[in-house]
Amino acid sequence: MSDVSIDTTKIELFSRHIAMYREPHARDGYEALADRYASRIDTKAHNAFYERPATISLLPDVNGRRVLDAGCGPGKYAEILVERGAEVLGIDVSPSMVKLATERLGDRASFIVADMAEPLDFLQAGSFDVILAPLSLDYVENWTPVFHEFSRVLRPRGLFIFSITHPAADMAEDICENYFQVEPVVEVWTGFGNPPATVHRFRHPLGYTISTLLDGGFTLDQVLEPVPTGEFADVLPEDYALLSRRPGFLCIRAVNGTLRGEVDKQ
Ligand SMILES: C[S@@+](CC[C@H](N)C(=O)[O-])C[C@H]1O[C@@H](n2cnc3c(N)ncnc32)[C@H](O)[C@@H]1O
Repeated sequence: MSDVSIDTTKIELFSRHIAMYREPHARDGYEALADRYASRIDTKAHNAFYERPATISLLPDVNGRRVLDAGCGPGKYAEILVERGAEVLGIDVSPSMVKLATERLGDRASFIVADMAEPLDFLQAGSFDVILAPLSLDYVENWTPVFHEFSRVLRPRGLFIFSITHPAADMAEDICENYFQVEPVVEVWTGFGNPPATVHRFRHPLGYTISTLLDGGFTLDQVLEPVPTGEFADVLPEDYALLSRRPGFLCIRAVNGTLRGEVDKQ
């Protein structure tokens, strides 16, 4: 019998480190960042002149429609939706973000603290016309249960619109170990002032993104690989040049309901 002595404290420390790496608490990061995020979100170039115009271009007429804003942050999207006549419920895992969104919108929209990675039992089946999830799915490792819940709470043919970090952006940064896996990514953001914010998210491969959506009961409707708008160039010309030739975000619109049965009948 071999007599290998094992330092169990080191194993415990190591496994705790792995657990922290595998299960980043996006909530804690956003709790710390919430005020700074809210103060910059209206005008920050990557959002105002890049991600938001692209994601908004996928919105239908929302006047009189019920919209779930999943990962609502400080309520910028909710504000846009309300101005277009939508009835909005925003959910976010960060209580500070929910407080900021409530301060921004007052009684013009509703916000609650909720984790979209958990069952949304408090929402009735078929109760939303649109689910919008801009830049929030990056923080959820497993999208399978999320997409099933979104399909349940959306009405048939309701729209699911979301944006994520483009998986090719992480490949270009050479921070992937294996493109084909869902992998944790740690980013240090300097665009929200000092101190720089450390953000834990995940990178989801393109194949995973599309197949999880289709398996979740959706039909793909539109895919955008946006480039920044002209205003971005005025603020950050170097980033503009880079993002005009290298992807940063991916924006997707899907319809609730599958065509798979139809295809099988042909
Ligand atoms: C990059 S911010 C985007 C905020 C907003 N959608 C926007 O584009 O302005 C990501 C947001 O997702 C929230 N979030 C992260 N993980 C979440 C989860 N599991 N459930 C609900 N919200 C989550 C964060 O707290 C944060 O407010």
